[in-house]
Amino acid sequence: MREIVVTGGGTGIGYAVAAAFVAQGDRVTIAGRREHVLKEAADRLDPGRTGLVAAVAFNAANPVAVGEALDRLPSRVDVLVNNAGGNTDLDRPADDGDLMDVAEGWWANLNANLMSAVLVTSALIPRLADDGRIVTIGSIAARGTGSGSYGAAKAAVEAWTADLAAELGPRGVTANVVSPGLVVDTEFFRGRLTEEGVRRRVENTRNGRAGTPEDVAETVRFLASPQARHLTGQVVHVNGGAYLGR
Ligand SMILES: NC(=O)c1ccc[n+]([C@@H]2O[C@H](COP(=O)([O-])OP(=O)(O)OC[C@H]3O[C@@H](n4cnc5c(N)ncnc54)[C@H](OP(=O)(O)O)[C@@H]3O)[C@@H](O)[C@H]2O)c1
Repeated sequence: MREIVVTGGGTGIGYAVAAAFVAQGDRVTIAGRREHVLKEAADRLDPGRTGLVAAVAFNAANPVAVGEALDRLPSRVDVLVNNAGGNTDLDRPADDGDLMDVAEGWWANLNANLMSAVLVTSALIPRLADDGRIVTIGSIAARGTGSGSYGAAKAAVEAWTADLAAELGPRGVTANVVSPGLVVDTEFFRGRLTEEGVRRRVENTRNGRAGTPEDVAETVRFLASPQARHLTGQVVHVNGGAYLGR
């Protein structure tokens, strides 16, 4: 049975990713900071309590917390999905140019999106099975404008993944980024996504709709499959063609 670890697996895209693996009989460990959210998600993912789903609460952006969580994570990992993240600017007042505020805003996004993936991956590389899979969730923001430190952090995820693919390639391990456009039905926008905001983003797509967590999850599932063994170091854009519309 394959062992899957999904950070941020309690909500949104991460939850859908976890559900896709559970549906095919894999064992899934979901991680996040809020224990109650993870427990509720694990109950929904595994209503029969078959033991296929485990919940481990820790802050993926904190090196001490990641180190302490290792005892509760699987001793062999076949697939790591670095999904934890989000635009931390949505949780902060706009900075007023004070350099300390500027720095803290940038650190927050770099920590949430880049360091969380780097730390969890570094901690789990010794446990990664040969022919294992690493999939990190990027964002269309990495290639666009207007997202400030969030876009920069997601762009850094792409550069880091290229290195990771080279480092782990000799072991048959692949490392890729799945880069979504707008995905609704997640906590990402903190309930502040307006109809106008959706319309503007959907207008850029070629298929005229917003993405769903399942759209992203199915791509992750393919990249994690044995059939995707020759696909590494890539950024796979899941955005209805919106990237073309920049
Ligand atoms: N929704 C979109 O339109 C969109 C578009 C492009 C990319 N993305 C990316 O997709 C990924 C998933 O986002 P989502 O849309 O599904 O939003 P979400 O529902 O807010 O999911 C983010 C998850 O990450 C967890 N998380 C955040 N920081 C963490 C940390 N430091 N340590 C551990 N867990 C952490 C959160 O749980 P806790 O708060 O409990 O820790 C939450 O479960 C993110 O990387 C996001 O940047 C989303």
